[in-house]
Amino acid sequence: MTTSTRLLAGLMFGTALTIAGAAQAQVKEVEMVHWWTSGGEAAALNVLKDDLQKKGYSWKDNPIAGGGGAPAMTVLRARLTSGNIPTAVQMLGFDIQEWAEFGVLANLNAVAEKEGWDKVVPQALQRFSKYNGQWVAAPVNVHSTNWVWLNKAQLDKLGGKAPANWDELVALLEKAKGAGIIPIAHGGQLWQDATLFDSVILTTGGGDFYKKAMIDLDPAALSSPTMKTVFERMAVLRSYVDNNFSGRDWNLASAMVIKGEALMQIMGDWAKGEFVNAGKKPDQDFVCIRFPGTQGQVTFNSDQFALFKVGASREEAQAVLASATMNPAFQSAFNVVKGSAPARTDVSDAAFDACGKKAIADLKEANEKGTLYGSMAHGHANKASVKAAMYDVITSHFNRQITTDQAVAQFQKAVAAAK
Ligand code: BGC
Repeated sequence: MTTSTRLLAGLMFGTALTIAGAAQAQVKEVEMVHWWTSGGEAAALNVLKDDLQKKGYSWKDNPIAGGGGAPAMTVLRARLTSGNIPTAVQMLGFDIQEWAEFGVLANLNAVAEKEGWDKVVPQALQRFSKYNGQWVAAPVNVHSTNWVWLNKAQLDKLGGKAPANWDELVALLEKAKGAGIIPIAHGGQLWQDATLFDSVILTTGGGDFYKKAMIDLDPAALSSPTMKTVFERMAVLRSYVDNNFSGRDWNLASAMVIKGEALMQIMGDWAKGEFVNAGKKPDQDFVCIRFPGTQGQVTFNSDQFALFKVGASREEAQAVLASATMNPAFQSAFNVVKGSAPARTDVSDAAFDACGKKAIADLKEANEKGTLYGSMAHGHANKASVKAAMYDVITSHFNRQITTDQAVAQFQKAVAAAK
């Protein structure tokens, strides 16, 4: 049996079981597979748990650590293969579409139509939440990856001016190094290296180049002189991380900036969840800026709850979860804590701090101007196999296992083989 036939057999087995039990009482429990294991992420998840508890549903937690979600997706595949299907799964972009293609995701159209999701969820998200016109996932937020988080006191010591372009960024990093502060707090993990890459490609080539290379996978763009500059710049960033960066979790890197051990972290706005969870305030304790040279453009990713076909006894729980997720008050409360923007356009920014307000405004602007691009690092530019191929080359190069010329030569070939 191939993996996919085993998988389908497992899913069919699960479905048959639940159909036989259709007359049974509804299971008043939501089991979710997710990778929200940091302090800030757990605090955001508590908003959802409390909300469901009030609605009479208990929470069965299934956390699988690992930013970007690759380990969670591996566990999910194993569970589905054995017919052990969770009520809901945190999922990103193209992964949702791949599962939908398999025909194993539930149909949420009834609740989506009743609540008018089509009118309030941005098209850029619907492109991932819907498959063949059918809602298969409920979007809980919009994150973006082209951010920098700076310790305010350390920035002030270095002159107080946040960098507005690549050269200013390098000048500031150099100053930090000279002052004995770790310039960049980073964790050497595939997805974190790739998160840096999202920003470097956007600032180096601009939005059109980002789209051509990362989304359209244009071979000429992937092997272009611009791509060479991108890898050269990745090597520059590498020279400003500390010696212990290898394998460090992203939230520990955030903590280095929170404590003032490091000047900045280049990371998606889930990092803000860590600052907020530590009681820190924007413009007072930390500063948030778009990655220098990328203001006006956004590389986004949206966490969505993908709901699998679990059978009748858990369909009510799924509908309650989907509806709770899309509730405007919940979207505000959850995303204030998570660091992200709401996944609907009609949620007020009143409860959000300055960085949250900026996230919402930047997103709106990028959406209107056509400068909103799916994040490669977080599964919104291309399918998982292509993402993994890019990750490999980016990380080998970041770790100095291959030269810049080798990286450029390998990049396009690796993508072509994975397409
Ligand atoms: C998810 C975020 C999460 C981050 C780090 C991203 O892929 O979209 O919700 O906080 O990974 O775990």
